[in-house]
Amino acid sequence: MTPRRWTLRRRVTALVIALVALVAATMGTVSTYALQGSLVDQLDERLVATSDRGMNAARPPRGEDRDEPPPALSVPGQGAGTLTLTVDGAQTVAGYLDDDGTFEPLTIEQQDALTEAAADGEVRTVAVPGLGDFRVLARTDPDGVLLVTGLSLADVQHTVRDYLLAEGAVALAGMALAALGAGILVRREMRPLERVARTATRVAELPLHSGAVSLAERVPEADTDPATEVGQVGAALNRMLGHVEDALAARHDSETQVRQFVADASHELRTPLASIRGYAELVRRRPEGVPDEAQHAMARVESESRRMTTLVEDMLLLARLDAGRPLARAEVDLVVLAVEAVADAHAASPAHRWRLDVPDDGATVVVDEDRLRQVLVNLLANARVHTPAGTTVDLAVRRGAGSVVVEVRDDGPGVPDDLRPRLFQRFTRGDEGRTRRPAGAEPSTGLGLAIVDSVVRAHGGTIVLAESKSGSGAAFVVTLPGAVSGSG
Ligand SMILES: Nc1ncnc2c1ncn2[C@@H]1O[C@H](COP(=O)(O)OP(=O)(O)OP(=O)(O)O)[C@@H](O)[C@H]1O
Ligand SMILES: [Mg+2]
Repeated sequence: MTPRRWTLRRRVTALVIALVALVAATMGTVSTYALQGSLVDQLDERLVATSDRGMNAARPPRGEDRDEPPPALSVPGQGAGTLTLTVDGAQTVAGYLDDDGTFEPLTIEQQDALTEAAADGEVRTVAVPGLGDFRVLARTDPDGVLLVTGLSLADVQHTVRDYLLAEGAVALAGMALAALGAGILVRREMRPLERVARTATRVAELPLHSGAVSLAERVPEADTDPATEVGQVGAALNRMLGHVEDALAARHDSETQVRQFVADASHELRTPLASIRGYAELVRRRPEGVPDEAQHAMARVESESRRMTTLVEDMLLLARLDAGRPLARAEVDLVVLAVEAVADAHAASPAHRWRLDVPDDGATVVVDEDRLRQVLVNLLANARVHTPAGTTVDLAVRRGAGSVVVEVRDDGPGVPDDLRPRLFQRFTRGDEGRTRRPAGAEPSTGLGLAIVDSVVRAHGGTIVLAESKSGSGAAFVVTLPGAVSGSG
């Protein structure tokens, strides 16, 4: 799994916070070291002065009480936090002035920590048990007396700690402000991009695949300023939308022209076809004096012209459906249509068994009556033409919730498998030899189901070939949407 990438807003905010933190840490470290160094230097200067005063003080009388402050500590000028240790031969006197300036003797352990410091005149830091860190200077006077002087580092450490705390607080506040600022800035800068994205999303949701498409969506003028990166994206998107709109318009124009041509051609063909049929009929009715061979030829002309008329009517109907002509909408009882269609089918082929299953109180929907009748006629014609005599054909009408279902089912040979994928496409028809067709039956063009599909879709419905294994018959299920009511 790839880790989810952060949004730009989040990344910029995080980067700004990290940079502020880095700068604050660097500045804090450098300035803290500088402050500490200068404070320790000052302390060291005071330490040398304190040590000088201690060296000038009188030697402690030998054998004096250890609890008295040693002279090096009681000379004027020695302040709180000062400690001294004097080693004069075998005698050691050591003491410490606490925060209140009160004298405290040093324990043996504390003295040991101090005597470990070498008497080389160098100032160093010594941790005195129980008292904390001290800057310590050890010196030996010409009489061989060792004087160790120390000044507490506590004040310096306090100051540095306070400084660090203040600096940390400022750094945190700075980071919070930077995060807020970055968030607001990025959000403001992103808003135009979000608008551009919204435009693209709206375009993506438009149905562009067919028909007349109005592609009016554009990125707002304010978001197409080429001086900004987002503006460049917006302007590019607008240019692209312009091109797409032109291309779609060109496609629609050429589609319309082709449709118009088919419709016009079909329309124009009707009149000459009617004349041809009429003359051929005339010869059939008045055969006197016409040789047998010519009569036969005229019969062929008549049947072919009838076939061509059907083809032309179908093509005209499809061209009109393609053009999206508005349907004639009226309340139609599908049960009435079904009864009529089955009666006609029975008249056309009494050799089939016709069965009807409809609701008693009707099924009224708002549809184009002529087109719907054609749907039933085409489906029943298929069940009649593409099945052998004796086949049972069921026509059922069912009312559903907000829809009506019409099913035409037969127990004939079924739709050949190779036809199924393109069954509803134009000019799809089965191998003539495989379907045993009654003599004199109307010729097949392969437009019947294409028309059914177009009509049903124009009504917002669907048609499917119900799943059935080849050989167990064909079942076409038409679902039409719309409020359905019984007439009773
Ligand atoms: N009920 C059915 N049983 C078996 N095959 C069918 C059935 N209905 C359709 N078919 C097959 O589907 C093909 C296409 O049907 P369609 O109605 O579109 O064209 P057609 O019947 O051949 O010609 P047209 O209806 O234009 O006169 C048919 O040629 C036939 O092979
Ligand atoms: Mg057909």
